[in-house]
Amino acid sequence: MWEYTDKVKEHFLNPRNVGELEGANAVGEVGSLACGDALKLFLKVGDDGRIEDATFQTFGCASAIASSSALTELVKGKTLDEALKLTNRDIAEYLGGLPKEKMHCSVMGQEALEAAIKNYRGEAVDAHEHHEGEIVCKCFGVTDETILKVIRENGLKTVEEVTFHTKAGGGCGDCIPRLQELLAEARGEKGVCSVSKVAPLPEGLTNMQRMLRVQDVMDNEIRPMLQKDGGDIQLVDIDRTRVVVALRGRCTNCPSSLLTVKEVVEKTLREKVDPEITVEERS
Ligand code: FES
Repeated sequence: MWEYTDKVKEHFLNPRNVGELEGANAVGEVGSLACGDALKLFLKVGDDGRIEDATFQTFGCASAIASSSALTELVKGKTLDEALKLTNRDIAEYLGGLPKEKMHCSVMGQEALEAAIKNYRGEAVDAHEHHEGEIVCKCFGVTDETILKVIRENGLKTVEEVTFHTKAGGGCGDCIPRLQELLAEARGEKGVCSVSKVAPLPEGLTNMQRMLRVQDVMDNEIRPMLQKDGGDIQLVDIDRTRVVVALRGRCTNCPSSLLTVKEVVEKTLREKVDPEITVEERS
């Protein structure tokens, strides 16, 4: 289970400034439901260029909700230029820190803020393609500019850290060599572009890759299988190769639930994601 600070828990359970904002004159939208997280930020900017009010709507985990809530508190009263200086680290620090695997939630908040300010200033922003630069990670639509910015602002050193902050590299893994190039570029090692100079790919899956793949297989293969028989399943936790689930619908209290967990869920995840995976039903 993720270790959340008290402030993250508090902002998750009692999020500030939720919903559409009446009279908003700036909107920033980032992420997509397909990628698992989405955030829409509303700002009301006064004539003096200060942010008078801010609200949000989000689809995501506890960290996404807490980060969005923190963001709205942080930007209120700031001028647009002051707000633009906020980094994802400011959002994470405001919350007393985020689990490293969840830092991408703070990045999403910072991106939504940038998108909203661009929107206010009349700069073209597409809801899901507002990023500048070239797409590096096709699985999550992350560009080289975003990755470089996040590497520099957070002092990232490894591909896994880049994945935790941006999700890039957490899907098929095809972009990992390019992520290594961008890490080298951020270190000032210009010209480290040929594959021969790139460090070898890490063996096996990173935690983030495993987590995202488990979620994907669960949503697209296992759940539809169980739903055909009137059942359902909920992913409760993933800790490396240990996956905890809760059975729902007709699967709840079914005498053969252990069989379902082992023969359907565990077997499928072992085949499709990682042969080391073990699945347990939440007691
Ligand atoms: S292209 Fe980046 S993980 Fe698939």
